[in-house]
Amino acid sequence: MDDFEARLKGFGVIPVVKIDDAADAVPLAAALSEAGLGCAEITFRTDAAEEAIKNIKRAFPDFFVAAGTVLQKNQVDRAVAAGAELIVAPGFNDDVVNYCINRKIRMIPGVATPSEIEKASYIGLCTVKLFPADILGGPAYIKAVSAPYRHMKFMPTGGINKNNLKDYLALNNVICCGGSWFVKGDLISKRDFDTIRSETADALKLVKEAGR
Ligand code: 3PG
Repeated sequence: MDDFEARLKGFGVIPVVKIDDAADAVPLAAALSEAGLGCAEITFRTDAAEEAIKNIKRAFPDFFVAAGTVLQKNQVDRAVAAGAELIVAPGFNDDVVNYCINRKIRMIPGVATPSEIEKASYIGLCTVKLFPADILGGPAYIKAVSAPYRHMKFMPTGGINKNNLKDYLALNNVICCGGSWFVKGDLISKRDFDTIRSETADALKLVKEAGR
């Protein structure tokens, strides 16, 4: 495991954020930091993503920002220029993955099947996002599907919440979990950063209880 992966593992959870107004990005990052979590995945599901990443990195240069839902090569460029340190996608798009690899940009593509895991492994990626993790079968699916791919690490996302987080984190090959349950879009748009702060603290308690 390299330093980058160790850093992801140290977070335990990565909030998957959909932000409509880039002005909310800094108070959101502040709330997460105050709760003890120095990372976020800002998804390119809204037009505000790029500006939100810029705003966070300007205010908190050490805050780790991943860009999520990156579906196009131009979004990779925009995310990296804005300060994103990692590109995440829900699926495995050869063009986008190769674009990142050729530029030495960290990327975690999404996978759901053994074939996709094998493809990632074949081109030298050691970490993949498993999406949508819970519907695929959750921790039992990870155990079954990872048996032949013992060197691969997983970032399960999709359907993870406070009731099942610890079951995922109990698996050694789960590097960290992504989820939106503690940074729900409506809380961000209502600017309810107090609730986000306390729900993040609750999530981090579970990470600790899982022995991370
Ligand atoms: C993602 O893109 O990773 C998911 O939409 C997050 O899934 P969740 O909302 O079920 O946590």
